[in-house]
Amino acid sequence: MHDSYDELPFESKVSRTRHVDRLATVGTLLGVAVSPPHSATVLEIGCSTGGNLIPMALEFPDAHFVGIDLSPAQIAIGRDRVQRLGLRNLDLIAGDISTVELPHEAYDYIVCHGVFSWVPEAVRGAILSVVSRLLTLDGIACISFNCQPGWAIRGIVRRVLLRKDDPKNDVPRRVRQGREVLRNFQEALGHDRFYSLTLQKELERIQSESDSYLFHEFLERENEPFYLTNFVNLCASHELFYLGDARWGRNFYLRKDLLDLSEEALKGHHSWLDCEEYLDDVFNTGFREALLTKHLPRVPTMGSLDRCFMAAQIKRVGEGPLRLDAVEEFVDSRGRPHTASEPLEKIVLMNLAAAWPEAKPFELLKREVQHGMDFFRDERGEIGEALEGYLKTLLLRDIADASLTAPRVVREPKDDLLVSPWVAVQSSESSVVTNGWHDTVEIGDLERRLISGIGDGSSRAELEARLEREVHEGSLVIAEEGIPMSVSPERDENLKILITDGLTTLAQAGLLLPSVSPSQSEPTSQKESFMGKLRRKLLKQHE
Ligand SMILES: C[S@@+](CC[C@H](N)C(=O)[O-])C[C@H]1O[C@@H](n2cnc3c(N)ncnc32)[C@H](O)[C@@H]1O
Repeated sequence: MHDSYDELPFESKVSRTRHVDRLATVGTLLGVAVSPPHSATVLEIGCSTGGNLIPMALEFPDAHFVGIDLSPAQIAIGRDRVQRLGLRNLDLIAGDISTVELPHEAYDYIVCHGVFSWVPEAVRGAILSVVSRLLTLDGIACISFNCQPGWAIRGIVRRVLLRKDDPKNDVPRRVRQGREVLRNFQEALGHDRFYSLTLQKELERIQSESDSYLFHEFLERENEPFYLTNFVNLCASHELFYLGDARWGRNFYLRKDLLDLSEEALKGHHSWLDCEEYLDDVFNTGFREALLTKHLPRVPTMGSLDRCFMAAQIKRVGEGPLRLDAVEEFVDSRGRPHTASEPLEKIVLMNLAAAWPEAKPFELLKREVQHGMDFFRDERGEIGEALEGYLKTLLLRDIADASLTAPRVVREPKDDLLVSPWVAVQSSESSVVTNGWHDTVEIGDLERRLISGIGDGSSRAELEARLEREVHEGSLVIAEEGIPMSVSPERDENLKILITDGLTTLAQAGLLLPSVSPSQSEPTSQKESFMGKLRRKLLKQHE
């Protein structure tokens, strides 16, 4: 079977929703007795070049990962990377999910991202059969799909593009022609109607995406969106049951109170699934990452966060001391504004903002927030319930994150510096890398140079000395607004400041790792990572 992904590979993007910890955390909070991610067996169907699996395989050396993809070209790229990294716990297999033999009899987690809507009906059936046959009893699968009604607008763009597309042409020509068609469409639409405004926004977004995305999303022969209940019924016919969504904010049944939906407004919706689909209409949901289990779930209720680590990438807008009598403004990583009026809300947000990118155990957060409340003489007594309630609100608004295994990142550069070997490989090829939160981040030239300087681990003093030497020898040019800095006594000082800034940027992006093993640092629920072991090995060799 010919695969268009051989011709135009799809560089797999990561996000926290595709990390096994997210599956485990949502599953646990919704009452499933999941296997711990650090020792799990994990399968990814349609893994392309393995970009989702590689960082997890490095993070959890005692877990075993298998990726399968139809495209031998993508698997070859992935295998080359696996070999360069010396990974022994990740197998990448080229094959068709309908016929392939897989190495294990059962998997604790199965991920199938960006595949289901894009394959023929028979392959969709094969995916569900494989998941149903191989998922363990308490396992969790995540299958993403294009969702209605939100996908409808993309459906219009697809129809316009397909009208002019000629599959007999080669892929680069089809993409070029596609972009031309989009430009004409943008011009013809204008900006003067409500319809054109929404569509223009979508067209702009598509034009800024890669050729690979444009081709595979809009010019592939298959692209089938589903209403949530249609998808859920299809899964149920394979004895797989819908549990929720991997993205906190899409678990709309939990948002009833947030949305102020009265029972009256929900009247006529006989099950929570109907409510959830009704809310897809409210939010115009276009994409879902559905979590599936082998158990027929009850109406899900969210359990306690007390086993979780909490984090939020958020910043306070104002300066000076926190004002408890006024509304405080915050902004999240996507630039969305967020206000806090209650003392508890402000103290929680300030606490999580100061900790980022590190995650804080719920109990520690609770103690610190309680201290803060006592300090401000807020006599509310035990804050446990209010804190849980507020944190769940932050989760459902996709502001905070909860995880069972805290990512091993540090919030500021230490004397010993360490980056993931995968980040080192990625940054040697491009400016797009995967951080400790399993998110895609873009970094600048200085940060890439620092990553290559840190290599397998380096002390800060060594890094500074190395870069200083290179500047003196002329092999590294430090430029200010494009103009190389002149040779002067201040230069070394400037270089030190630049290095500090660059390292701080790397830390805040979740790209610097602790160089000590977890037993020596704060306790986390995960075992020592590959990076920790590697670092210890290197230290021993130098002794
Ligand atoms: C849009 S890409 C998604 C890749 C990756 N999961 C991600 O999210 O970045 C879809 C992938 O599914 C693979 N695929 C399509 N049909 C398949 C089949 N029958 N068996 C296995 N993989 C298949 C393609 O080769 C391609 O790599």
